[in-house]
Amino acid sequence: MDKSTLLKVSNLKKTFIKKSGTFLKRRKTEVYAVNNINFEVNKGEILGIIGESGCGKTSTARMVMRLMKETKGEITFEGVNLCNLKESETNKIRKKMQMIFQDPYDTLNPGMKILDILMEPINAHEKGLTYEEKYQKVIEAIEAIELRPAQDFIHRFPHQLSGGQRQRIAIARAIILNPSFIAADEPTSMLDVSVRAGILNLLLDLRKKMGLTMMFITHDLSTASYMCDRIAVMYQGKIVEIGPTKKIIQNPSHPYTKALVAVVKDLNNFIKNREKLILDGEVDATKEEKGCPFVARCPHKEAVCHTQVPVLEDVDRGHSVSCHCHIELLEKTS
Ligand SMILES: Nc1ncnc2c1ncn2[C@@H]1O[C@H](COP(=O)(O)OP(=O)(O)O)[C@@H](O)[C@H]1O
Ligand SMILES: [Mg+2]
Repeated sequence: MDKSTLLKVSNLKKTFIKKSGTFLKRRKTEVYAVNNINFEVNKGEILGIIGESGCGKTSTARMVMRLMKETKGEITFEGVNLCNLKESETNKIRKKMQMIFQDPYDTLNPGMKILDILMEPINAHEKGLTYEEKYQKVIEAIEAIELRPAQDFIHRFPHQLSGGQRQRIAIARAIILNPSFIAADEPTSMLDVSVRAGILNLLLDLRKKMGLTMMFITHDLSTASYMCDRIAVMYQGKIVEIGPTKKIIQNPSHPYTKALVAVVKDLNNFIKNREKLILDGEVDATKEEKGCPFVARCPHKEAVCHTQVPVLEDVDRGHSVSCHCHIELLEKTS
């Protein structure tokens, strides 16, 4: 593993069993939530994971954060394979890796005051500190997420805060132990549009100040392009394209990425060769792998797309795409 790599995910897979049918005729089908993905996150960078609902973004993050066990694969963090660790060793790593969830209401205990919510991780991981030192850490974390004066917030319950303030407290809890890695799972999608930019800018600010490395999950390409150094595009459990944000936006190579770029009106200025494409057809993550996962919706499909699973191939330095037809598509658009 390269020295600049903080996190490496190799051949990661997660399947769920979906039960359906009646009492007499039960059916079990396998859902491929995450289907053999590979990526790295370099120190100090923000890697975006984007894709529509159900494509496997949250499952990927939960496995990386050790909140869910993988079906197969390896996750290496700071050179340590997380998949083989004992519970006590995983707990030590948790101090360095934190997650920010979509809905702060779900993740902050409604019966606890902010002071106690923020004391919890310190009590678990920094037992040697005095109460005053712990209290000081809480105040500093609240100031870092720009709720001032901090003393005004510590005795409130989560329901006494606005949605944006609650997500700031969730961020304070994530940074209070000075982690090196944060996975943010759609951290602004439940918030009012008016407070979203503030949260995104706070995360960018904290990344700079604390030297954080991040995995930033979103279904929205314009948010990803604002936040991320590189972007991985997921479709039905697979990474179909990955590369530097600028290359993904200016030169999307997978038909699915092209479709995502085409619908982001805010990025009009960036895009020379826009391709209007309507995403129709069904998404079905339970099908056996036979060909390209995008084949049902792809306007450029050829015979090979029905029979062979495409693999990620380099199209440019650091920019890879998994599509049988991307070369023909490049020729068409250049
Ligand atoms: N606990 C679970 N049990 C069964 N199926 C699940 C579970 N969690 C996720 N899935 C399924 O796995 C797929 C990926 O889900 P998820 O990772 O939540 O996607 P995303 O975050 O991109 O919306 C979906 O088809 C979803 O229904
Ligand atoms: Mg999700």
